[in-house]
Amino acid sequence: MRVVIVSSSPNEGGLTNSCVQVCRDTLEKSNVQVEWIVLNHYHIQKCEACGKRGWGMCLEEHKCKMDDDFNNLKEKIAEFDAMIVVSPVYFYEMSESAKTFFDRLKRCESFDENWKLKGKNMLCIACAGGSGDGTENTLNSMKILAKFLHMEVVKQVGVTKLNFEAMKSEMVEGTKKLMLGENHERS
Ligand SMILES: Cc1cc2nc3c(=O)[nH]c(=O)nc-3n(C[C@H](O)[C@H](O)[C@H](O)COP(=O)(O)O)c2cc1C
Repeated sequence: MRVVIVSSSPNEGGLTNSCVQVCRDTLEKSNVQVEWIVLNHYHIQKCEACGKRGWGMCLEEHKCKMDDDFNNLKEKIAEFDAMIVVSPVYFYEMSESAKTFFDRLKRCESFDENWKLKGKNMLCIACAGGSGDGTENTLNSMKILAKFLHMEVVKQVGVTKLNFEAMKSEMVEGTKKLMLGENHERS
């Protein structure tokens, strides 16, 4: 089994990366292959809604006309058996790098019969500041993302710096549930 972690914080020493580390450790202890993609490291432009009625080639060709890192990343992510999405909470939502990437991914893959992550598992983690305000909304956006990607949400975890230690077990449990998608395993 291979799991991709997609995170979206520019802050190397921040809470988002600490949460990624918890998931990585759990996967590696179980000898699961894991790859970590930090969206902030890529050049991904915002969707132009380029067609006349709001759809471009994304609707029928399931890729984007824009020449940046998006199409390659989309192809790369599709090679995994499950995905963990970890985003900071910015203004009650996923961070901009996550929104920009996932906006385009939803367009390309919500009507793609051959989308390889269809029916695969997703773990959602939102990393907030002290108040934790907006965590619920962010997790809900991730759930909507999973709906349009036709993926199954195994768990949603809201984390703040104050509850990080307490939420570790939730993240470990979610990661283990993700690994239970054995029927999705590819040789
Ligand atoms: C632009 C911006 C907007 C933020 N908005 C919220 C918010 O709506 N709710 C919240 O609880 N924290 C908010 N925060 C705090 C971050 O969610 C928090 O610092 C989180 O730990 C950031 O992730 P990081 O540690 O990986 O940088 C915001 C931070 C930034 C930079």
